[in-house]
Amino acid sequence: MVMLWCGSTEVLTELDDVHKTLHSFEEGLKHDHPAITPSMIYAYASLMSGVPFGNGAPNLTVDIPALLELATDRGVPVCGKDFKTGQTLMKTIIAPALKARQLGLHGWFSTNILGNRDGDVLHDPDSFRTKERSKLSVLEYILQPELNDDLYGQYEHQVHIHYYKPRGDNKEGWDNIDIFGWLDYPMQIKVNFLCRDSILAAPLVLDLVLFLDLAQRSGLSGIQEWLSFYFKSPMCAPFLYPEHDLFIQLTKLKNTLRYLRGEEQITHLGLEYYQQR
Ligand SMILES: NC(=O)c1ccc[n+]([C@@H]2O[C@H](COP(=O)([O-])OP(=O)(O)OC[C@H]3O[C@@H](n4cnc5c(N)ncnc54)[C@H](O)[C@@H]3O)[C@@H](O)[C@H]2O)c1
Repeated sequence: MVMLWCGSTEVLTELDDVHKTLHSFEEGLKHDHPAITPSMIYAYASLMSGVPFGNGAPNLTVDIPALLELATDRGVPVCGKDFKTGQTLMKTIIAPALKARQLGLHGWFSTNILGNRDGDVLHDPDSFRTKERSKLSVLEYILQPELNDDLYGQYEHQVHIHYYKPRGDNKEGWDNIDIFGWLDYPMQIKVNFLCRDSILAAPLVLDLVLFLDLAQRSGLSGIQEWLSFYFKSPMCAPFLYPEHDLFIQLTKLKNTLRYLRGEEQITHLGLEYYQQR
C-alpha cells in the first residue's frame, strides 16, 4: 500500500517548534496544535502504519523534521512536494537551456487561467502563497545567480494564477521570457501552454505509486530524492539543495533504477565506442 496526498493546497504554514521533533509533534497532536495541518495528520497515520507517503501538494506535510524522523525510525520511504506538471515543468526545461547557452535573463512573467476546483482554492490568497513559494524557487536554483551575476543577478520573476470558471480543467499557462544574448542584445520567448490539468497529473500519480512501492521493497527509507523528477519543490536532505533541472532529475531517476537492478550507472562518457580495441 502507498499513500499519495492529492488534497487541496493548504494555507501557508511555516516551520514551527511543534514540527521539530517527533516528541513535540505527538504532544502537539494531543493538544490540537494549530500548526499541525490535516495533511500532516494523514502523513503521520501513513508512516505509523508503515505505508510510504508522497505529497502532490505544495504544503509542508511530511517535509518537517518530526515526520522525517518518524520515516527514518520506521524505515518508510517519503517524497514530495507539489507535482510538476504544467508551467513549472516548462520552466525547468527552458531555464537549464538558457543557462547551458549562457543566455541572460531580464525577466520571467508567468500567468495561468484555470477553472477547476484547484483553481478556485488557489484563488484564495493564503493558499496561493503556499503555491507561489513552490513555483518561484525553481529559477534561483537552476540559474544560480550567485555564480552567474552578469546573466542572472537582476532578473524579475512573477507568477500569477487566475480562477476563470469557463476553462474548467483546461488550463492555459502563458509565459513571457525576456532574455539577452551576445552584446546584451534583447530577445523574447513566449510560451502558451494549452494543457489539461488532470491529464498531466494522473500519470505522475501512477508512476509514484509504483516507485514508492519499489523503494519500500528495495529497503529504501526516508526522503527519496531520486523522485525529484516529479516535483516542483523536491524534498532533499537539509545539507543539500533541491535539484530542479529536469534533465539532471531524469538522470538521477534512471541511475537509481539501474542501481536497484544492479546495472551500471549512466555516465554519458561514451569514449569506449571510439577507443581502439
Ligand atoms: N495538474 C494538477 O492537477 C496538479 C499539479 C500540481 C499540484 N497539484 C496539487 O494537487 C492537489 C490536488 O489538486 P486537484 O486538482 O486534484 O484538486 P481538487 O480540488 O480537484 O481535489 C482536491 C480534493 O481534496 C479534498 N480535500 C481538501 N481538503 C481535504 C482534507 N483535509 N482531507 C481530505 N480531502 C481533502 C477536496 O474535497 C477535493 O476533493 C492540489 O494541492 C494541487 O495544487 C495538482
